[in-house]
Amino acid sequence: MAKTIFITGGAGFIGSHVVRLFVNKYPDYLIVNIDALTYAGNLENLKDICDAPNYKFEKADITDFQTITTLFSKYQPIGVIHLAAESHVDRSITDPFLFVRTNVMGTCNLLHAVKEAWKGDMEGKRFYHISTDEVYGALQCDGTFFTETTRYTPHSPYSASKASSDHFVRAYHDTFGLPIVISNCSNNYGANQFPEKLIPLAINNIKHKRPIPIYGKGENIRDWLFVNDHARAIDIIFHNGKNGETYNIGGNNEWTNIDLIRTLCAILDKKLGRRNGESAELITFVKDRAGHDLRYAINSSKLQNELGWHPSLQFEEGLEKTVDWYLTNEAWVDNITSGNYQKYYEQQYNQR
Ligand code: NAD
Ligand code: DAU
Repeated sequence: MAKTIFITGGAGFIGSHVVRLFVNKYPDYLIVNIDALTYAGNLENLKDICDAPNYKFEKADITDFQTITTLFSKYQPIGVIHLAAESHVDRSITDPFLFVRTNVMGTCNLLHAVKEAWKGDMEGKRFYHISTDEVYGALQCDGTFFTETTRYTPHSPYSASKASSDHFVRAYHDTFGLPIVISNCSNNYGANQFPEKLIPLAINNIKHKRPIPIYGKGENIRDWLFVNDHARAIDIIFHNGKNGETYNIGGNNEWTNIDLIRTLCAILDKKLGRRNGESAELITFVKDRAGHDLRYAINSSKLQNELGWHPSLQFEEGLEKTVDWYLTNEAWVDNITSGNYQKYYEQQYNQR
């Protein structure tokens, strides 16, 4: 094996797609997936590649400096792609300190372990931090976009923790010369997303004829990107991005939540053989999310022009694929919405 790459958070939604892409595309890399397997981590996501000779899994918590340092000595990676995080805004409102611990302290731990491991020899190395468009705050509905130079204005404990981690990554670059790259991506959707996030939650509720909770009036806007397109962007940026740079990744695909859910209802009416309009009757407007950002929209022209990445799928096509995946992978969803996960799921559900 010529190169060892650590991917943190590889058992989660986006991480599992990145791990699969790298394991299949780069047989000469050893891909080490470092994941604590929190409620969001699920090795089922990787069952198709778990026996590949160039894949290893290490159950480890990024906030545990000693363990992380030991893993660096054991594998001596030349690259780190860092996705491990607490990722759900609603949970950050309930438990902000968990987000500080994982997203800020965890990232600092990794940065410090990497700095020590690569001390004196940074050549050919790269620490790639996966961040979010939420660090830029909220846009009005005025046709403006987030660019790489938009001022950071996070509003939720989640986005504040991600903003803080971005600052630490840049600080380790500026202070210690750590070779880094950062990307800030918009909302992802696709297979294996934990069903607490809007799209899989809605698919699952529609399927079971349960209310679909829409926060406020459903007028908030998100820019949706198919998860495999994000994984492709991560591959391109990891290999070709410039040291110290930031790249925005987005789908150029803005939808109000209510329009998105109506579209999803129409797709599911067809697929489930229901009367047109039947699923939309499940739409239920509930109390708004505290500090709910109105609109996110990404300008990804830097990534498109400099590195040649483009989103590959039209949203309707991606949404159909996603619905098909959830309908044919009922066991995956049922496993999450029962057993260990049931308690949290019901608590959230009852609060709506
Ligand atoms: P996810 O919640 O599905 O997965 C997170 C993974 O991190 C899980 O496998 C979990 O077990 C692991 N993890 C959590 N705490 C850990 C710890 N202390 N040590 C080791 N592993 C730990 O998240 P996701 O939606 O796949 O997001 C992945 C990354 O991409 C995050 O950094 C997130 O901020 C960023 N991001 C997500 C989106 C999106 O739409 N989901 C968009 C832009 C950026
Ligand atoms: O923009 C990138 C971010 O996208 C990522 O950094 C986050 O990790 C990811 O979770 C996502 O954050 P959002 O808060 O935008 O995603 P979520 O699926 O939670 O919500 C999408 C929109 O739908 C948002 O406006 C809130 C609304 N919503 C969400 C849920 C769960 C509802 O109306 N009802 C719901 O039940």
